[in-house]
Amino acid sequence: MSEEVMYADLKFQDSSKGENIHEFDTVGIKAPPAPSRGWRQRALALTFLCLLLLIGLGILGIIFYTTLKIEMGKLNKLQNFKEELQRNVSLQLIHNMNSSKMIRDLSITLQEIATKLCHELYKREPEHKCKPCPETWMWHEDNCYILIDNYETWQESVMFCSAQNASLLTIKNKSVLEFIKSKRLRKYWLGLLTRKYQKNYQRLDETIFSSDWLLRNTNDVNDRMHCGYVDSMYVYYTDCTSTMNFMCEKLANPVKIESTLMNEIPDGKYS
Ligand SMILES: *[C@@H]1O[C@H](CO)[C@@H](O)[C@H](O)[C@H]1NC(C)=O
Ligand SMILES: *[C@@H]1O[C@H](CO)[C@@H](O)[C@H](O)[C@H]1NC(C)=O
Ligand SMILES: *[C@@H]1O[C@H](CO)[C@@H](O)[C@H](O)[C@H]1NC(C)=O
Ligand SMILES: *[C@@H]1O[C@H](CO)[C@@H](O)[C@H](O)[C@H]1NC(C)=O
Repeated sequence: MSEEVMYADLKFQDSSKGENIHEFDTVGIKAPPAPSRGWRQRALALTFLCLLLLIGLGILGIIFYTTLKIEMGKLNKLQNFKEELQRNVSLQLIHNMNSSKMIRDLSITLQEIATKLCHELYKREPEHKCKPCPETWMWHEDNCYILIDNYETWQESVMFCSAQNASLLTIKNKSVLEFIKSKRLRKYWLGLLTRKYQKNYQRLDETIFSSDWLLRNTNDVNDRMHCGYVDSMYVYYTDCTSTMNFMCEKLANPVKIESTLMNEIPDGKYS
């Protein structure tokens, strides 16, 4: 029984040898020696290497994947941050716009307060530093006025005022009318120019509705024209070559806010 088994084994080995030889023969390669231990080790090593490579690739893949996820997360965060920043910036812009509008409104209010305050100071101290008119000029509402007590022709008066960047006095509303009335002017040229013989005189109160007020300084005077002057409560028309005193007017500068804080009253006045 055991002999039989041995035989069978041998035979099997033989036949497998023969088969192997046959196989290599058909391929036509010089038959290598039977697979040695070295070859198997090398195969094993190769397999191991492949495995290692695979594991390495796997690890690399995982690293790549996790890094990608982290980076995507960072990118998302960055994107969100950017959007929030943009929202904040636009909010800030709106806020700034609101703030600057508020500042504008405030400075307008401040300017109005300073002007009112300066008016009060001017009433007490006519040459207070805050007065928005040149020295010796009077201040009424938004205009500056100066009385020139020199007898000049109407045109010379216009030219004189012009040189001061001003024009001859006009009285176009009640406020100025009352201001001029209080001055009780005797024979002062007005910025009134009309055709001769059209009118002789009118009450000062009526003159605010006159259509003869100059719109701007003019030298366009000829001998067919009459010029107006104020004498007490009346306005008269006469030859423009007559000579009268005159009054110039010009727009006041804005009141300088800080100038209202300057104390113009000499210390002596308090003691
Ligand atoms: C946006 O504004 C809010 C509120 O003012 C603030 O909490 C947040 O930090 C701001 N975001 C950025 C990105 O500046
Ligand atoms: C800006 O002003 C408007 C109204 O004038 C208001 O509705 C808005 O809330 C203000 N915005 C900020 C950021 O102050
Ligand atoms: C008149 O205005 C001009 C230009 O605006 C200026 O240079 C000049 O100094 C002014 N003259 C007077 C007397 O205010
Ligand atoms: C009156 O007229 C003057 C110009 O002549 C002007 O500056 C002033 O603002 C006017 N006042 C009123 C209350 O309309």
